[in-house]
Amino acid sequence: MPSSRIPREIVHFTRRVNYASYSPRGYERNVRRIVPGYEPLHDAIVKEVRKAANRRKGKDLDCVELGVGTGVTASRVLEAVLSACVVGIDVNAHFARVAEAKLQRRFEGRGSIVVGEYSTVLRDWKPACVDVVYSAISVHHLTHAHKRQLFARVFRALRKGGVFVLGDLMDFEDASKNLAVSLAALRLLLANASSKKVGFEWADHWLNFNICATVEEQATWLQEAGFSSVKHVFERLTTNLLVARK
Ligand SMILES: C[S@@+](CC[C@H](N)C(=O)[O-])C[C@H]1O[C@@H](n2cnc3c(N)ncnc32)[C@H](O)[C@@H]1O
Repeated sequence: MPSSRIPREIVHFTRRVNYASYSPRGYERNVRRIVPGYEPLHDAIVKEVRKAANRRKGKDLDCVELGVGTGVTASRVLEAVLSACVVGIDVNAHFARVAEAKLQRRFEGRGSIVVGEYSTVLRDWKPACVDVVYSAISVHHLTHAHKRQLFARVFRALRKGGVFVLGDLMDFEDASKNLAVSLAALRLLLANASSKKVGFEWADHWLNFNICATVEEQATWLQEAGFSSVKHVFERLTTNLLVARK
């Protein structure tokens, strides 16, 4: 994909927050240990995708994952929801190749990968073409303006009744709660990283490159994008899940 089509801030992200420098195996081991509530977040995402599948009453469920990484979240969804097909989008070709091989091997035709910046990819799709858009630990890399633009594009891509399942690292409006959960999450990161060096690398990433928005402002932006209901369904320190219905 030509970099001229990627927004400037995202080019900055791909150069500085360089997931390509992580080995896929090391990344997978650490993300599980470091992100608060990583496994229960996945259970909660799967639960929301399953609910959407039940509403479709056995018909195919077209899903999109924003930031598919090495395919961990997509594998959980495809394993649990047999009517789901997932298109995973990621700007990092290195991770995307790993995800593609994993999904092909385990789920045959139900998982596919697009390498690109997800907001730009969604902009070019026709409206109302998917049932579920979900994401785990990815959108916090966008600037707030780009998050709002993304939410509008997700809304446009969803069919009526479709859902956006947004799992991510988020702040809170309440400053003292925010400080308490951020410090606890950082402590957990440093205690659980596979080595001191990895802990410092991830702490640097969190403190200097993450652009977290609050749960409250993102709920407002989702409503402004047109979603008729927005629910905060999961919370574990900085890890939160919002579910928005079109
Ligand atoms: C922390 S990983 C999460 C991957 C997977 N959901 C998991 O839990 O393992 C975040 C992924 O989002 C991707 N990403 C971040 N911003 C992106 C953007 N604007 N467009 C496409 N991919 C993006 C990164 O390249 C990275 O692979």
